Amino acid sequence: MCDHSLYSQCETTQVTEKGSGASLLGFSELYGSVPGGQAQYLRVPHADFGAIKVGNELEDHRYVFLSDVLPTAWQGVKYADVGEGDTIAVYGLGPIGQMAARMARHMGARVFGIDPVAERREMAARHGIEVYTDGADTIAELKDITDGRGPDAVLDAVGMEAHGSPVGGAIQTAAGFLPDAAAQKVMETAGVDRLSVLHDAIDLVRRGGTISISGVYGGTASPMPLMTLFDKQIQMRMGQCNVKKWISDLMPLVEDPSDPLGVDDLVTHRVSLSEAPEAYKKFRDKEDNCIKVVLDPVAG
Ligand SMILES: NC(=O)c1ccc[n+]([C@@H]2O[C@H](COP(=O)([O-])OP(=O)(O)OC[C@H]3O[C@@H](n4cnc5c(N)ncnc54)[C@H](O)[C@@H]3O)[C@@H](O)[C@H]2O)c1
Repeated sequence: MCDHSLYSQCETTQVTEKGSGASLLGFSELYGSVPGGQAQYLRVPHADFGAIKVGNELEDHRYVFLSDVLPTAWQGVKYADVGEGDTIAVYGLGPIGQMAARMARHMGARVFGIDPVAERREMAARHGIEVYTDGADTIAELKDITDGRGPDAVLDAVGMEAHGSPVGGAIQTAAGFLPDAAAQKVMETAGVDRLSVLHDAIDLVRRGGTISISGVYGGTASPMPLMTLFDKQIQMRMGQCNVKKWISDLMPLVEDPSDPLGVDDLVTHRVSLSEAPEAYKKFRDKEDNCIKVVLDPVAG
């Protein structure tokens, strides 16, 4: 897997008893039950490989985001395969969608960002993203703007926590915030009603276009419109981020004082570990204009 730069499929840490890929820090049993980084100190398995050397001149959030947000967004845009003159719609303007949208702009694409939450659209608009709320009207409008075809690519940065989800809390728990057996079951079996954004993406993308899925999905019996996928000749790429693969692309951009990816405009809250539960609640409920929280293990 290393030879293919597929680090998130690492055969040394694969969770074979669950049939899952590489172990992940801070996830549930499904990904190896490795305690995560929400603590003052962190034990890092395989640190001889995974750790990267960072500078100390810049504010730490630029480097912190190299551990997840930046490589995930970068992989999403790379998988979407867009460049100069292409069009891409990004569903979800949370931290991942924010950065993916800015990166696609940086690569020369025209970017449409879709999210029901106003302050998230406002943040994206500050970075040259054309913003829309979700819904059927948006799909019609974006098809119109792209000569009736739909964008060349659609990136799904929402996943199965789509807006209005009755089981959203359980899904978040299953995704690793709190290990919990019942939530684990939901992660493994969640089905059809969790796929609304993906179905919108399939409708919106142009024929022969690409759908790139960064958002996490679970469920083993998720119905997909195979006829439409085949007929529209849609390409799909997805998966857990292969973080290490993208660091050499990202480091020069992150360390560039002109901040070409706009990393300095993402953090809305910075709190101590003791304030973390409250911050999680704010993030989940999208209160207090919360978009991205940095937990500072030294503060407080
Ligand atoms: N592939 C990976 O390695 C990887 C890494 C990190 C995060 N993720 C996943 O990426 C996804 C996004 O992460 P995030 O931190 O940005 O989360 P987030 O919850 O902040 O972002 C999701 C956004 O989607 C929006 N949304 C909800 N329903 C929508 C709809 N119908 N149409 C458009 N937008 C809608 C929400 O308002 C929110 O802004 C999650 O599923 C997360 O688990 C994947």
